[in-house]
Amino acid sequence: MITRRESIRNYDPDKKVDEVILKRIATAGQMAPSAANRQPWKILIVSSQEMLNAIRPCYRALWFQEAPHILIVCGDRNHAWKRSFDDYNSIETDLTIAMDHMILAAEYEEIGTCWIAAFNPDILRKELNLKESEIIYAITPLGYQKEGFTKKAHKERKHFDEVVKFI
Ligand SMILES: Cc1cc2nc3c(=O)[nH]c(=O)nc-3n(C[C@H](O)[C@H](O)[C@H](O)COP(=O)(O)O)c2cc1C
Repeated sequence: MITRRESIRNYDPDKKVDEVILKRIATAGQMAPSAANRQPWKILIVSSQEMLNAIRPCYRALWFQEAPHILIVCGDRNHAWKRSFDDYNSIETDLTIAMDHMILAAEYEEIGTCWIAAFNPDILRKELNLKESEIIYAITPLGYQKEGFTKKAHKERKHFDEVVKFI
């Protein structure tokens, strides 16, 4: 499943994902580990036309406009764990793990995703009414591909031996 996942930039706007499947995907995020089990996140699945219209301008790509659902992980840095030695705050790590769990759960359900960081955060902050301490690191479309779409099924990755060392 992990090698099968790839970033999908093709979505059928008319094929919505069943709510039961969306809930299973969200559960994968809800169950993710977090530092000191603080769970400093909110998992937002945007599916209503009104909210989709409000959120879509945050990332202009056409394929993003066509996705029937957008998954957003949002968190509050004031609720995340802080390391006493140096004030490291776990918020980005916690939110990223939750998103990765859900992206892999979506792959298991054969639902396409694409990790997106190049969104306009100001648009999301405004439309979601975020507090100063709340932050979003990643969003992803969720959906099925249009008929005829085929995955690349090719991973451009550094060689195993270049990145893995048994020492
Ligand atoms: C932190 C992060 C940010 C990313 N931001 C974007 C993005 O804004 N837009 C996009 O199309 N893909 C984005 N991607 C997807 C990467 O381009 C993609 O994961 C990478 O090229 C490897 O391809 P694969 O996911 O198909 O294996 C992002 C991925 C990560 C991990």
